[in-house]
Amino acid sequence: MNYENLLISIEEKIATVTINRPTKLNALNKATISDLSKAVKLLGKNDDVRVIIITGSGEKAFVAGADISEFANYTIVEGAQLAAEGQETLFDLIENLKKPVIAAVNGFALGGGLELAMACHFRVASDNAKMGLPEVTLGLIPGYGGTQRLPQLVGKGRAMEMIMTAAMISAEEAKQYGLVNHVVPQAELLDFTTGIAQKIIKNAPFAIAKAIKAINANYTDGKNGFDTEIKSFGKCFGTQDFKEGTTAFLEKRKAEFTGK
Ligand code: COA
Repeated sequence: MNYENLLISIEEKIATVTINRPTKLNALNKATISDLSKAVKLLGKNDDVRVIIITGSGEKAFVAGADISEFANYTIVEGAQLAAEGQETLFDLIENLKKPVIAAVNGFALGGGLELAMACHFRVASDNAKMGLPEVTLGLIPGYGGTQRLPQLVGKGRAMEMIMTAAMISAEEAKQYGLVNHVVPQAELLDFTTGIAQKIIKNAPFAIAKAIKAINANYTDGKNGFDTEIKSFGKCFGTQDFKEGTTAFLEKRKAEFTGK
């Protein structure tokens, strides 16, 4: 499938999705959100894909936010609709995908861009990356989950300060805050992130899907994370991958997982 604003490559079970609107610093207009939603859904179902990496084209920006030119004249109702649709069709979709989604943050990740990175399961940044939620400078608050996911990742006090001041933090500060897991030179970002993905795909896909579900349950209203963990742990015992993993260990060989 061809996308107006995305480039997608699939190699050795790793899909790399590049947001490709470099002249607008990869800002998320509606068409790009829709492209991303379709692509993530399809890659989620594609048996040739075990891990998805999301990055931005060019050397300057991951994503410089939602496309301001599209919502400048919105009403209260349209504003709420924009946030609701985006959260449901893309940000929540990514967070709850059964396959790992890693953000390779290659430059500015601002507003909706940082929110996109935060919806991914974890983040790697290039050393030139800058991150922030500057919505209050536009008279807005973050609308794609930023007020919820930023405190989960960096703590309430830091999130309050970042959102109220609209300040951008450096990649190194983001690492200190726990917002990104690694900082690497820009030229090495994709190789480094692919290296992490390669480690992940050696492991059992069903178990990874259940780990995502159990970890997310702690952050979901009405769900008990420990309960979800118990049920998910139990379900793993019914998989071929569990038999393969334990048998391979006892036979002192590497496991070959199929996801079944
Ligand atoms: N929405 C729409 N267009 C955007 C955009 C956004 N969020 N961010 C950047 N662009 C566009 C600019 O309008 C400009 O387009 P033009 O060349 O047609 O005028 C182009 O991308 C390049 O951006 P520019 O501002 O000229 O680059 P810069 O290096 O001077 O500044 C930033 C980079 C990221 C600091 C600046 O673009 C910026 O502040 N962007 C908005 C960030 C933001 O508030 N995001 C939250 C949105 S909710």
